[in-house]
Amino acid sequence: MSYRGALIGCGFFAQNHMHAWADLPGARIVAVCDLDPAKAARFGETFGAQPFTDPAAMLAEIQPDFTDIATTVASHRALVELAASHSRAVICQKPYAETYADGAAMVAACQRASVPLLVHENFRWQLPFRRLKAELDSGIVGRPTFLRLAFRHAFDIYAGQPYLAEVQDLALSDVGLHLFDVARFLCGDVVRITCETRRLNPRVKGEDSFVALLRHADGATSSVECSFFSPVAPDPFPQTLAWLECTDGIMEVDTGYRLRIHRDGQVTESSVEPDVPAWGEKPWHGVQDSVRAFQAHVVAVLDGEAEPQPSGAHNLETLALALAAAKSARSGETQAIARPPSTSEGVSR
Ligand SMILES: NC(=O)c1ccc[n+]([C@@H]2O[C@H](COP(=O)([O-])OP(=O)(O)OC[C@H]3O[C@@H](n4cnc5c(N)ncnc54)[C@H](O)[C@@H]3O)[C@@H](O)[C@H]2O)c1
Repeated sequence: MSYRGALIGCGFFAQNHMHAWADLPGARIVAVCDLDPAKAARFGETFGAQPFTDPAAMLAEIQPDFTDIATTVASHRALVELAASHSRAVICQKPYAETYADGAAMVAACQRASVPLLVHENFRWQLPFRRLKAELDSGIVGRPTFLRLAFRHAFDIYAGQPYLAEVQDLALSDVGLHLFDVARFLCGDVVRITCETRRLNPRVKGEDSFVALLRHADGATSSVECSFFSPVAPDPFPQTLAWLECTDGIMEVDTGYRLRIHRDGQVTESSVEPDVPAWGEKPWHGVQDSVRAFQAHVVAVLDGEAEPQPSGAHNLETLALALAAAKSARSGETQAIARPPSTSEGVSR
């Protein structure tokens, strides 16, 4: 059984989606769509799919098992609402929504249609984080007490994604959402957040760095750092470094995908470097492998063997965290996460 998929948005990152789908025996992309006819035609030709320029026409004709939305955020709500009525599962890239109201409407549309909504939060599917979670679940290091996540680099992300230079809450909305999802994945739900943001690169419009302090429901704290203007040598991009203290040990993920586990006065070291896919290359392999792992999970969801990780409803609360972080940075005040933020608020773009 191979599920028939349709992809919307034939841009920079969707190439990873297409290659990873081609690797998976359980799914194949039969149709692709982009408003730009040249991009749709190029993807169609490269990956052997029928090209379209109108998402509604494509979905009405193809009636796919799943729709994979890889466009930028402004189009997500309309496309998720459309796809919910034409497919058995909907996948949406992050940032999932610009406002809490849009995100809630997307969750509601998929609930009304009884189709699962998955958010392409591939960071939690990166091999180092899957391994940290497996070690936590095994119980050998006990419960988390402190997490530090650091995504700091000076790689020119604007060459491949020029639109990022115009985004207001850049670091929070681009990578902050991924990091907050990882913090929730490892340490559970968050009850309050404090955040500082800064614009460091004079060439970009928005704040390209932040530091956030998260208090988790069970008492653990997380320090989450992100900077797109930190010239480190060698540059760890696109790796996220992690330090996770637990009641019975410490786990750290260092540059070069080194995992160290400190327990009982001893440290053991191993590699958590993923293979480079046949279609991939370094330094992107950590990301490319995570896309493949996430999409294999989508097939498991379609098979009825897994629950969405993360679902739209779960990611709505991660969006709430990013909105609260932006509010904290503007107001200088800690934000409680007990209630969703006002539906009129959004991460500025
Ligand atoms: N998960 C990750 O690690 C990761 C990495 C990079 C980008 N992203 C996300 O992927 C998304 C796409 O980013 P990108 O850099 O590939 O953008 P991009 O601009 O290169 O590609 C988006 C494409 O979508 C098309 N499009 C826009 N609206 C459309 C619509 N209504 N119907 C059909 N086509 C439409 C555009 O013409 C464009 O070709 C963004 O939300 C971005 O944040 C995620």
